[in-house]
Amino acid sequence: LPEGMASYVDPSELRQKWGSRDALSHKGTFGRCGIFVGHMQGAAILAAAGAARTGAGLVVLGTRGSISLAVLPDYVVRQAESPVSALEDCQSIVVGPGLGTDLEPLVGTASVDEMFSSKRGVVDADGLKLLRASNGLRRLNDGWVLTPHPKECANLLGWTTEQVQRQRLTAAMQLAERTGAIVLLKGYRTIIATPAGEIRVNPTGNASLAVGGSGDVLAGVIGSLIAQGLNGFDAASLGAWIHGRAGELAGAALTPISTTASDIVDYISRAIVTFF
Ligand code: APR
Ligand code: MG
Repeated sequence: LPEGMASYVDPSELRQKWGSRDALSHKGTFGRCGIFVGHMQGAAILAAAGAARTGAGLVVLGTRGSISLAVLPDYVVRQAESPVSALEDCQSIVVGPGLGTDLEPLVGTASVDEMFSSKRGVVDADGLKLLRASNGLRRLNDGWVLTPHPKECANLLGWTTEQVQRQRLTAAMQLAERTGAIVLLKGYRTIIATPAGEIRVNPTGNASLAVGGSGDVLAGVIGSLIAQGLNGFDAASLGAWIHGRAGELAGAALTPISTTASDIVDYISRAIVTFF
């Protein structure tokens, strides 16, 4: 790590900023995390499960259509013409996991523009395309966390994926500086960068996380921490640490071969226990 600018994520330090649960607390104390549900609903449900396990008081699914899965007792479902208005009262919004083709009608709409400039939350996967197509990249603030994998980061910067992987620190820092948002660049030793050039590197995580849907869980975990009041940098850092340790623990118990994204969700509690 370059001296001075960068440190490893330390969960016991971040734990101090994560509210304790005193006897008089209620669900409103721990925030509402909204998940934007598009066509690939499984991905959005993985994000919702990650958010619930990480302690949001309420997880709200906002959809233009209907949720085609079985009854989901852990979440509130709200249907509206714009998922943005369905999630109006949420302290954080997760945009991207499973968005799919729900994207086109939303590009450049006033409600999406307004969401990126006034809300906080996480932009992942297809949400990054929505952001780019909506010129939302100029509207963000450091209450937003962008969570690209190397290829998504390359697309946003206009680099090749190989360039991103050769200069991971620079790539994350440049994207943060250009957008004004926190950038979490995924992969082995995930990097979290602020627009001011501060860097954290996540020491947890291994190949057990290399499974479809793993990133969707991470987006929900971070969204949940933002809803609970952590700033974007701390939420991204602690979220990456918890997600990585959950993957390690799931892999140790179940083998990295058969660990699924849902297993990562199931091991979030065991990851939190190690420092809480
Ligand atoms: N070591 C440590 N962490 C890893 C490793 C590894 N070897 N492999 C993967 N991970 C972690 C990454 O750091 C990240 O947190 O697993 C997660 C993978 O996230 P994504 O790349 O977003 O994968 P996925 O969840 O399948 O994405 C779903 O969204 O990004 C789009 O194109 C993608 O359609 C796909 C969808
Ligand atoms: Mg992904």
